[in-house]
Amino acid sequence: RMDCEQILKDLQMINSVFMKGFKYNKHLLNRIYYLEKTSAPADHRAIIVSVDLLRSSPKESNSFNSNEFLDLSNSAGLVIEDHIFSKQNFVSASHFLTKGKVEELKTLVTEKDIKLVLLDCELSPSQERNLETILCARVLDRTGLILDIFASRAQSDIGKLQVELAQLSFLSTRLVRGWSHLERQKGGIGLRGPGETQLETDRRLVGNRIKQLKNRLKKQHNQKNLNRYSRKKGEDKLVALVGYTNAGKTSLFNSLTKGGLYAADKLFATLDTTTRKADFKSKTLSTVLFSDTVGFISNLPTKLIESFKATLDDLSSADLLVHVVDAADPESDFKVQQVNLILDDLGVDKIPQIRVLNKSDLMPDTLIKPSGNEHPEIKVSAETGDGLDQLKTQISEMLFGEILTGWICFSPTQAAIRSKLFDSGCIVKEEIDENGSYQSFIEISKSMLQQFDHLEGAHALKPIST
Ligand code: GTP
Repeated sequence: RMDCEQILKDLQMINSVFMKGFKYNKHLLNRIYYLEKTSAPADHRAIIVSVDLLRSSPKESNSFNSNEFLDLSNSAGLVIEDHIFSKQNFVSASHFLTKGKVEELKTLVTEKDIKLVLLDCELSPSQERNLETILCARVLDRTGLILDIFASRAQSDIGKLQVELAQLSFLSTRLVRGWSHLERQKGGIGLRGPGETQLETDRRLVGNRIKQLKNRLKKQHNQKNLNRYSRKKGEDKLVALVGYTNAGKTSLFNSLTKGGLYAADKLFATLDTTTRKADFKSKTLSTVLFSDTVGFISNLPTKLIESFKATLDDLSSADLLVHVVDAADPESDFKVQQVNLILDDLGVDKIPQIRVLNKSDLMPDTLIKPSGNEHPEIKVSAETGDGLDQLKTQISEMLFGEILTGWICFSPTQAAIRSKLFDSGCIVKEEIDENGSYQSFIEISKSMLQQFDHLEGAHALKPIST
């Protein structure tokens, strides 16, 4: 792989010899620089830098963020050669890091021949470029890293479009004249003038692509709205699983739907929203659908949320949110707060919610503390299946009202109704008497019972909780 700095030196030497053609060479250099920036480095070794801004609140302390950033880097498939910390009470406008830290980093990067440095912060385009120039290595900040992971995970058309949109919005501010350019500049008799600068041309090209992507996403979005409309008409109910990345949403989704989706101990294993029918009877005539969504993360860049609106919009049409929390995670309180902030941001905080304390198998029961929030809380383990029945009942109750239980009598002429209730999973057990009538023990949602309150015994049913 060619080294950018070496190429720069060669080109400068050529310029000094021939004293012309600098403009052409500069463009060539920029093209190489762009290719260098956009192609994945073959070398997966990296150094990560966790920045602790001393003025930040204790909640944003570096101990938590640095662990998470390390997880993110591992999820991107990188081999971390070194992890250094920078405690600073100011941000350098030119390099973000202090002068001393940049020198320390430069020594490390040169010694270990590192091609990639990751910084757990938001860099401005000029800070990123300045650092790259000094370190002679590619520099990525938190958003850049998350985008990289997203790009490798996107599977569906819509997911890929969203990732490309997010990448271009991010790149548009960082672009340094790298597109196929000279031939694209306008010219000709009557059109001559100062013309477009290279940077303007680049921005226009990126701007056009962004516009194109937004249009395509809008079309996909309209299609989704149509699907939503037919769901509403059919009175199906949508339950969306939300939560911090790696909380166990996909595992729970699989347990509730027989989904067979890919769950892994990686951040952002799921990027595309998947919707499937529930694998349990909801004790009503409606169908319950579950949606597995992209995991949240603290400081999720607003540009990413913007780009992922099409996916996250699914949340706004949900009838119930199941907020999955990793109960065994010492940082769970912080992560719950972060998820709530994003839900607020998306304007879906008013949708009824159940909080699921997942991974209860990893913790003694006594250590899982209820958080005392206003939403119902249920301890489950998606792995062992503990607590799932209680969760299913709670979901049914929140969607369709209280579940009532007791004995009902079906005469032989009411076979059609009995079969309906059977299909909805309302009949738990039954006996047949000498007259050919069925004595059935049922569990049924209050809303559904309204249609069948003429049945014998319907008024004597009691709430399941009593
Ligand atoms: P993202 O796709 O990153 O948002 O993650 P997710 O929230 O969908 O989590 P996922 O279901 O992929 O699970 C993350 C890891 O936690 C996997 O390794 C699962 O096997 C593990 N896991 C999920 N639920 C449980 C559980 O109840 N107990 C235990 N022990 N592990 C679990």
